[in-house]
Amino acid sequence: MAVRVLVTGAAGQIGYALVPMIARGAMLGPNQPVILHMLDIPPAAEALNGVKMELVDAAFPLLKGVVATTDVVEACSGVNIAIMVGGFPRKEGMERKDVMSKNVSIYKAQATALEQHAAPNCKVLVVANPANTNALILKEFAPSIPAKNITCLTRLDHNRALGQISERLNVHVGDVKNVIIWGNHSSTQYPDVNHATVTTKGGEKSVRELIADDKWLNGEFITTVQQRGAAIIKARKLSSALSAASSACDHIRDWVLGTPKGTWVSMGVYSDGSYDIPPGLIYSFPVTCEKGEWSIVQGLKIDEVSRAKMDATANELAEERSLAYSCLA
Ligand code: NAI
Repeated sequence: MAVRVLVTGAAGQIGYALVPMIARGAMLGPNQPVILHMLDIPPAAEALNGVKMELVDAAFPLLKGVVATTDVVEACSGVNIAIMVGGFPRKEGMERKDVMSKNVSIYKAQATALEQHAAPNCKVLVVANPANTNALILKEFAPSIPAKNITCLTRLDHNRALGQISERLNVHVGDVKNVIIWGNHSSTQYPDVNHATVTTKGGEKSVRELIADDKWLNGEFITTVQQRGAAIIKARKLSSALSAASSACDHIRDWVLGTPKGTWVSMGVYSDGSYDIPPGLIYSFPVTCEKGEWSIVQGLKIDEVSRAKMDATANELAEERSLAYSCLA
C-alpha cells in the first residue's frame, strides 16, 4: 500500500529538492510506493502547481499520486509521514521575537490539522527553523500525537560532521560513524567526536586516535560544523537545500527502516531527562532506531568540556521555549 508523505513548504527550495528524492525511493526504499501531499501558501500556489507538473513529467514509477494544495486540512488528511519544511524566514530588520511569533502561529495551526486529520501514528519531522522549538510547539498543540512521533532535523549537522572527518582523514564518508550532534539546530549545537570511529583496514579505530590534532578537533572542526549553514549561504547566496533534503530522507529512512547495527544517528527528540538534559525540550541526541521507534543511546561517558557545551545549548533551547510561550500569551 502507498505511504502518504506530506511536505509543507513544497514550493520552496528544500521542497523542490526533496519531493523527487521521496518519489525515487530515497526516503522509504525502492519498493515502497508513495503518494505525495504538498502544501504551500496561496502566494506560492502557482509555483506549487509547477512542481506538481514536473513530478508528473518525471514519470516516477513509485509515485502513485500527488495532492498539491494550499488547504492545510486537505494536505494533512491521511498522511503517514509529515515533513514540515514550510515556515516564515527571518527577513532583514526583523527581531527574533517577530520571526518566532510567526512560526509559533503556523506550527500551532498545523499541529491541530495534523492531530485531527493525519493517519494514526503519523511520524513528524520538523525542518523549518527554529526547528527544535517549532517541533515543541507542534507537540504542545497536538497532544494526542505521541511525543515520540515528533522530531526535528539535526541529521544535516550530523552528516556535515561526518563529511568534515572524512575530508580530514581522506577516507570514505561511509566508513565514519557515531559522531553526535547535541542540542539545538543552531550555532550553539555541540558536534561531539569523542565516540566517533572509522572503519580502517586494521579494524575500527577511534577518530581521536586517528586525528591526533586535538586543536583542530576541539576548535575548527566544531566551528566549521556549527557555521556550515552560513558558509553555504555565503557561497550560494541561498541556504542549503539539497543537503537538507537528503538529510531529511536519511532521518526518516533510518527511523522507519532502522539504523545499521552498531551505528547511531542524531535526531532532535523530546527529552526524557537522559544525560541530565531537562525533560520537555526537543533536543538532539544520539539515537538508534528499530521497528519504527527511536531510542536514545545510553551510558556514553561525558567529559567536563562536553558537559558544558551540552548544557549551553540546552539553555538556549529553554530560552527559545520561553520566547515561544511569550508569543502564545
Ligand atoms: P524557502 O523560503 O525556499 O521555502 C519555504 C516555503 O515555505 C515557501 O515556499 C513558503 O511559501 C512556504 N511557507 C511559508 N509559510 C507556510 C505555511 N504556513 N504553510 C506552508 N508553507 C509555507 O525556504 P527553504 O530554503 O526551503 O527552507 C525552509 C526552512 O527550512 C527554513 O525555515 C530554513 O531555515 C529551514 N532549514 C532547516 C535546516 C535544518 O537542518 N533543520 C537546514 C536548512 C534549512
